[in-house]
Amino acid sequence: MRAPPPPSPAHPAQAPRPAEQRAGPRRRPGMTTLVVANQKGGVGKSTTACHAAFYLGGQARAKQPGGADKGRVAFISCEVQKNSSNTLKKTYGTANVRADAFFRSEPFDVVPTGAITVYEGGPFMADIERIQGAHFRTQVARIAPHFDYCIIDTPPSVGVLQVAALSAADFVLSPIEMDEYSVEGVVDMLKTIIGVKERFNPGLVFLGMLPCRLQNTSPRQKAPLANLLKHYSNYVFGLDEGCKTSVRQAIPEALAQGVPVWQLKSSGAREAGAEMLAIMRLLERAMGR
Ligand SMILES: Nc1ncnc2c1ncn2[C@@H]1O[C@H](COP(=O)(O)OP(=O)(O)O)[C@@H](O)[C@H]1O
Ligand SMILES: [Mg+2]
Repeated sequence: MRAPPPPSPAHPAQAPRPAEQRAGPRRRPGMTTLVVANQKGGVGKSTTACHAAFYLGGQARAKQPGGADKGRVAFISCEVQKNSSNTLKKTYGTANVRADAFFRSEPFDVVPTGAITVYEGGPFMADIERIQGAHFRTQVARIAPHFDYCIIDTPPSVGVLQVAALSAADFVLSPIEMDEYSVEGVVDMLKTIIGVKERFNPGLVFLGMLPCRLQNTSPRQKAPLANLLKHYSNYVFGLDEGCKTSVRQAIPEALAQGVPVWQLKSSGAREAGAEMLAIMRLLERAMGR
């Protein structure tokens, strides 16, 4: 397969900074907002976003004497399909308002409901595409005093929802699946992120692409993966640590049960859990917490 050129060097200062996790931990005051985004569907966005919420909300984080180290997580599902809300609400229920409230001007009461407060998505989010995302950033700022983390799951398209989420975020992580089109998708994703940085959110930090659903022996995936690592290694999340998720049945099983995969006991779940925990530990460090 022919390798596309790397993203234009025309704006080196605005280019998303490569996998910042190598810079080492920093402490960030206030709420940290992470967006999980890729305009392709089925690549692992909701899976990654849910596991980030489980982890940062206290499930399986290292050293929690008396639970004191648990984070207070707001989860905003900007999905129409509401996969992630369905997973998280099994354990955590839902917040007093839905995710569409973030796209309106009226303030709403912020009522944390536990370790993870789930602002649910759903079909009504499709209507948002017809209005503007101007209020989203303001509403995210309004909930900030109540939470340590805000995690935003996004739909598989470039549009109002994705741009609004990126405009309100500190960090963006992009799960990708390896297929013949994934490298083209990488270029599109980088262009979107550069555009949002230039126009709305210069502080946005691109954490990188996270290879998901890898079939380690698949020849179909080998060439795109080699291509990504060769031409875009700076944009791969956790490259040095080998961060990835392999295809494992335990992942949909865990999501269906509303628990993180590292909580399941099957042997398939053990490897999947270890991979997912490695990603989450690095994510927490990369976000400076
Ligand atoms: N590593 C994995 N192994 C097996 N199935 C996975 C894995 N990651 C995600 N899935 C499943 O693939 C489907 C798509 O994943 P999802 O996270 O919903 O993608 P997206 O949000 O990008 O559309 C879901 O059914 C999910 O359970
Ligand atoms: Mg999804």
